[in-house]
Amino acid sequence: MAATNLAFPEESAAEATLIEQEEAAIERIKRARQILGEDVVILGHHYQRDEVVQFADFTGDSYQLSKEGAKVNAKYIVFAGVHFMAESADILSRDDQVVILPNLKAGCSMADMANLEQVLTAWAELEDVLMADPAQHIMPITYMNSAANLKAFVGEHDGTVCTSSNAEGALNWAFAQREKVFFFPDQHLGRNTGKAMGIPLEQMVLWDPFQPYGGLTDEQILNARIILWQGHCSVHQQFRPEHVDLWRKHHPDIRVIVHPECMREVVDKADDVGSTAYIIKQVEAAAPGTKWAIGTEIHMVNRLKQEHPEQMIQLLSPFACLCSTMYRISPLDLANVLENLVEGRVINPIVVPDDVKQKAKLALDRMLSIPK
Ligand code: 13P
Ligand code: SF4
Repeated sequence: MAATNLAFPEESAAEATLIEQEEAAIERIKRARQILGEDVVILGHHYQRDEVVQFADFTGDSYQLSKEGAKVNAKYIVFAGVHFMAESADILSRDDQVVILPNLKAGCSMADMANLEQVLTAWAELEDVLMADPAQHIMPITYMNSAANLKAFVGEHDGTVCTSSNAEGALNWAFAQREKVFFFPDQHLGRNTGKAMGIPLEQMVLWDPFQPYGGLTDEQILNARIILWQGHCSVHQQFRPEHVDLWRKHHPDIRVIVHPECMREVVDKADDVGSTAYIIKQVEAAAPGTKWAIGTEIHMVNRLKQEHPEQMIQLLSPFACLCSTMYRISPLDLANVLENLVEGRVINPIVVPDDVKQKAKLALDRMLSIPK
């Protein structure tokens, strides 16, 4: 029998339908945007997939997006990012603005590694060990990748939020006031930044939220300068020091640049480290022919690769490191929220309760006022 009219296997047919739907969604987004005009602004994180990020009015790292979110004038801010980013935009935006996350399942596995109950328990246990209000000695700092109620906790305790682009500024600011820092939820950003500032590794202890007193002795807590929450990014955790060795073996002139959410052993071997925006800036400024192995999310690395064919750009790991939660935002989701706005309906709004908002804003405003 001739091999014509072969039926698609079921999965391929489903994939083909999805591709068609996504292509149609691009046109739907264009139409809706035209109608909505300046009423809507789309903010996009660098990890967002191309089909979605192409519609962003502004792209940036978490710091830039929070700054931009605070300045936006539009009635609707559609956030092509993850939940904690949209929450921060809601906290920093005006009361008459609405923040929308196109897919409510776009969370962050690292942000989910610390919750308020655990942090309150830790704070009470620290009080017990210090035999004093922890606020006399310890400054809480939460990474931007955390829930709004953790930002509120920090705001209430005179602390700040930080991002990967201003963590050192935040730590310096904290140490000017208190002798210790409680840093959550990303142990790697905290450790890498502390190490770059000259803090010995043994003075940065790891707080395991599933153990009484974080699994630490009183002595460890009393001697610590930074108490690091045992959290990590499941995407950046996949980059290994051996990947750096392998690239250097085959390309001795390669530059390795990584995100500070990578483990210390990777950062130690890299040539440079910084936020997503910092990585992009370094690549943009490099000479043609520069070779890069980049340790961060694959959509951003692939985009850099396409935009800079004059350089050799590779992902640091041999397998795809994908932020699967950010990937959940599809063109279909974007088309859906925009078309509903055209019809006067707001779907997927991100609304931080007022009491949380006020306190979290203290911490975010502090972050924005600390020099980078
Ligand atoms: P940036 O602030 O560097 O964009 O990082 C955000 C993030 O979630 C990285 O995983
Ligand atoms: Fe969260 Fe990691 Fe995705 Fe960044 S890359 S949003 S830290 S899961």
